[in-house]
Amino acid sequence: MWRFTQPVKHKLPATVWPSADEASRSRLFSPIDIGPIRLDERTWVPAMVPWRATDDGFVTDDNLDWYGRFAGGRPGAIVVEATGVRDIPSGPLLRIGHDRFIPGLKRLVDRVRQESNGHTRLFIQIIDFLSVRRRPDPAKFFARFLELNDRHRGALERITGDETWSRADDDRVRAFLSTAPDDILDAVLDERELESLRFGYRERVTDTHFEHIRNLPEVLPGMFADAADRAREAGFDGVELHYAHAYTMASFLSARNTRDDGYGGARENRARLPLEVFRAVRERVGADYVVGCRYLGDDVIEGGNRLDDAVYFGRRFAEAGFDFLSISKGGKFEDAKQPKVGHAVYPYTGRSGYECMPTVLSDENGPFGRNVPLASAIRRAIRADGFQTPVVTAGGIGTFELAESILANGEADIVGLARQALADPDWFEKVRTGHGADVRRCEFTNYCEGLDQMHKQVTCKLWDRIDLDELGVPRSEDGRRRLVAPKWQPTDE
Ligand SMILES: Cc1cc2nc3c(=O)[nH]c(=O)nc-3n(C[C@H](O)[C@H](O)[C@H](O)COP(=O)(O)O)c2cc1C
Ligand code: SF4
Repeated sequence: MWRFTQPVKHKLPATVWPSADEASRSRLFSPIDIGPIRLDERTWVPAMVPWRATDDGFVTDDNLDWYGRFAGGRPGAIVVEATGVRDIPSGPLLRIGHDRFIPGLKRLVDRVRQESNGHTRLFIQIIDFLSVRRRPDPAKFFARFLELNDRHRGALERITGDETWSRADDDRVRAFLSTAPDDILDAVLDERELESLRFGYRERVTDTHFEHIRNLPEVLPGMFADAADRAREAGFDGVELHYAHAYTMASFLSARNTRDDGYGGARENRARLPLEVFRAVRERVGADYVVGCRYLGDDVIEGGNRLDDAVYFGRRFAEAGFDFLSISKGGKFEDAKQPKVGHAVYPYTGRSGYECMPTVLSDENGPFGRNVPLASAIRRAIRADGFQTPVVTAGGIGTFELAESILANGEADIVGLARQALADPDWFEKVRTGHGADVRRCEFTNYCEGLDQMHKQVTCKLWDRIDLDELGVPRSEDGRRRLVAPKWQPTDE
């Protein structure tokens, strides 16, 4: 996890919770229309991958329990975790790249309807990502993965002054490089080869010399449209196109996208594929189905998008007819920390990752509502253009007071609580019914995110060891943690 050099430790702010009557008159608990549907309230549980799918991408009972538990608090909407649009192995992440996934996803929809008595709207976040390999053992990298060519031999000849390198066979070059110090490797390998060695091989949308990357604009609109169609068939209220963080669509939007085929470079070109994907999805699911997206208000990486790019994209997306825009921040590979050998690079370990899931060890601005200004600027620009597209914000929001003030100030239309909902899925019910004092407040220290990084089932440190012997409580693979928060009994009943 990335840290500020001189972090300021912020305390959770003291807060006043509303009575049930005040809550019922609040903006937060008032309805809002998203395209053709209505949310009962302006609360939202943003997508969170809990690492509970089967290895081949199917919904498990643990997934049902996870989403069922959130639905029990009856938030306005829940967004199901990033779910792959391709039908390719991708570990225990949900997939929607084939019809065989529909029955499991239907069960998930049913469970949320049942637990929320039909109050919570359910969206699914659909994602494409490119290949990321684990950081290799250097011996293997030099013996097998590195593709040798004359550039390597020429560099060796130059550095050592030994001209026999130009005729050296592969075994000799590989053997030499496998024991060479860093400064030699820096001079012999190119930037991508060094990255593959030190971080693990990672594809980019700019690798257009590969056919499958060059063809992304041809294949992705259809894949997203098929996935959205399946989401509709499974009974979801809508789809959230994942245009954020470290993944394919965000990389098309990013200012670091230098593709020269009309899909990179200038902003309008970078927006082209995201808009084509949207149109294909819209055409497939029709006007009466919610199609929104999550994208970045700031990439937080050198050479990446800043707020002015995000404002431009927001205006184009609103104009194109997206039903909502959910604004996130950062979460990129480019500034991620070097993983250990055998581990994959994780896009939440650098500064951009900090900004995505800010903690209480922060700068003077602190983590609370830290990303609201991004949503606010985007919302202002699209309102000025005459569009009423709802804007969702998230990031360090844990109190009613903060959520309500964001709405009162016109900074966003809907307030997302990810980690706070994980810490206490009953937050919504408690606050709505005047039991805010019972809220288990998220401490924003990211134990949950640490589990995500290790690809372990995500839980919250505030409840995962409580009442472990409770009958029927689902537990983590090692049996040491409960997988869902304990039940809440109102104190005055
Ligand atoms: C365990 C975990 C998994 C996450 N998975 C996703 C995801 O699948 N898609 C996504 O857009 N954001 C994901 N996020 C980011 C959250 O949706 C949210 O933007 C972030 O945590 C900041 O909001 P918060 O302060 O309310 O937690 C994840 C966050 C956590 C903690
Ligand atoms: S583990 Fe920590 S950061 Fe995560 S939800 Fe729980 S209290 Fe919040």
